[in-house]
Amino acid sequence: AVSNGNLKQVDNVAHRGAAGYAPENTIAAFDKAVEMKADYIEIDVQRSKDGELVIIHDTTINRTTDGTGQVKDLTFDQLRSFDAGSWMGEQFSGEKIPAFDEILDKYHGKVGILIELKAPELYPGIEEEVAEELKERNLDKPQNEKIIIQSFHFDSMKKINSLLPKVPVGVLTSSITDTTDEALKEFSMYADYFNPSYRIVTKDLVNRVHSFDMKISSWTVRSQEAADFLLKMDVDAIITDYPDYVDPRNK
Ligand code: G3P
Ligand code: CA
Repeated sequence: AVSNGNLKQVDNVAHRGAAGYAPENTIAAFDKAVEMKADYIEIDVQRSKDGELVIIHDTTINRTTDGTGQVKDLTFDQLRSFDAGSWMGEQFSGEKIPAFDEILDKYHGKVGILIELKAPELYPGIEEEVAEELKERNLDKPQNEKIIIQSFHFDSMKKINSLLPKVPVGVLTSSITDTTDEALKEFSMYADYFNPSYRIVTKDLVNRVHSFDMKISSWTVRSQEAADFLLKMDVDAIITDYPDYVDPRNK
């Protein structure tokens, strides 16, 4: 985390890795985030046709690889056969869609991991599978490791909270209707983080999230102005494509 004198600390979360500098959700992007001293990497988890958990944002491979098709309709070997780097520049060619277990093994203990379950409604049972991978590695004990699980899918996060009661859970939203006191109270029954788009963040929202004993991480910073705005709003974590934009001196 970056801190400066008496200023409150803010966690710097590299969105899909340092996605502004390297192809999102690849080893190149996660290594870049570590090199830039991010506190967390954010990863999107889905599942291959043959049941492997993989790291990719879209539910198709069309945008971020040289192949086409739905993630859920391709086997792990098929997914691995495509190039997940060259769309962003030839210097990244050869990057592969990572496996979830590979990322846990490579980065836990080195950097925090903010795990997003992406479109879990397409992957029945994915919560149990993610929980198993964490338990196998003793990563379900938050005092040892910086691990958080988040999703736009609230029922999925309720399930994660019951499977992994010690792992912090976050709810993602860009909807103002999720920011009422009533909604926040309901989230606080199972979530530790309320994680909104920065477009709906206000100082009042930050204060009310804190009054329900939750933290607030906001996304996605792609400009210096957005980073400075979130610092001034006193959020607990900033999820950014550009980790270097988060500079507490701008608070
Ligand atoms: O971590 C928050 C952010 O990743 C949510 O949006 O679409 O980038 O997964 P998205
Ligand atoms: Ca995400």
